Amino acid sequence: MWDRWSDNYAMSEADFEPMREAAVERLDLEPGDAVLDVGCGPGVNFELLRDAVGPDGRVVALDYSPKMLDRARARVADHGWENVTFRRADATRGDLDPESFDAALAALATLSLSVMPSPEAAVERVHEALRPGSRFVVFDIRSFPSGVLRVLNPLLERTLHLVANWNTDADVPAATESVFGECQVVETHFAGVTYIAVATRDGDLVSDDEH
Ligand SMILES: C[S@@+](CC[C@H](N)C(=O)[O-])C[C@H]1O[C@@H](n2cnc3c(N)ncnc32)[C@H](O)[C@@H]1O
Repeated sequence: MWDRWSDNYAMSEADFEPMREAAVERLDLEPGDAVLDVGCGPGVNFELLRDAVGPDGRVVALDYSPKMLDRARARVADHGWENVTFRRADATRGDLDPESFDAALAALATLSLSVMPSPEAAVERVHEALRPGSRFVVFDIRSFPSGVLRVLNPLLERTLHLVANWNTDADVPAATESVFGECQVVETHFAGVTYIAVATRDGDLVSDDEH
């Protein structure tokens, strides 16, 4: 499915741009940081992440769709960015092998966890890949959480499942909370259907020298 979507991603990219910006701001990145982009798709977050970490920082982009990664690589080549590296992997299986890219200082997952069969498995791998004190920010979609619009949930869920393989059983904030021990939904949009959630890995932040 995601290989097919890779040719038609412009609408999703434009519609969600303000929320992606807000999610990246929540990462509190500093120049020189390393950030993991989980389910990066065609690289829609790269420019924002690159602006935040600067030329000395690093963006590690992970996706399992070869065509999404082709698109993402083309974007990187077009801009001449040299500090974006790629990993083709299933985020829900194996481990993200933090040693191979040095532990990330932060991680971002935009519109990706809710399409995975087990968001919790992916969150566990992200948690392992982060250093203590590192932040994980999620921007994603869910059913209407309250109010009369909930009557639309069956239709919304069926449509998202059909067009995006959306996992109707997924509760991404709950999965994140169960792995990280805490997770706060800090912003919502579109009557609560899209949200930004933030979790921090337990422990004190270790400096580069100690790591
Ligand atoms: C809706 S797109 C989101 C892309 C981008 N992050 C965005 O904000 O638009 C979902 C992406 O997650 C990727 N994906 C889905 N399941 C995955 C998995 N188990 N492991 C790695 N990537 C996965 C898909 O290939 C696709 O690129």
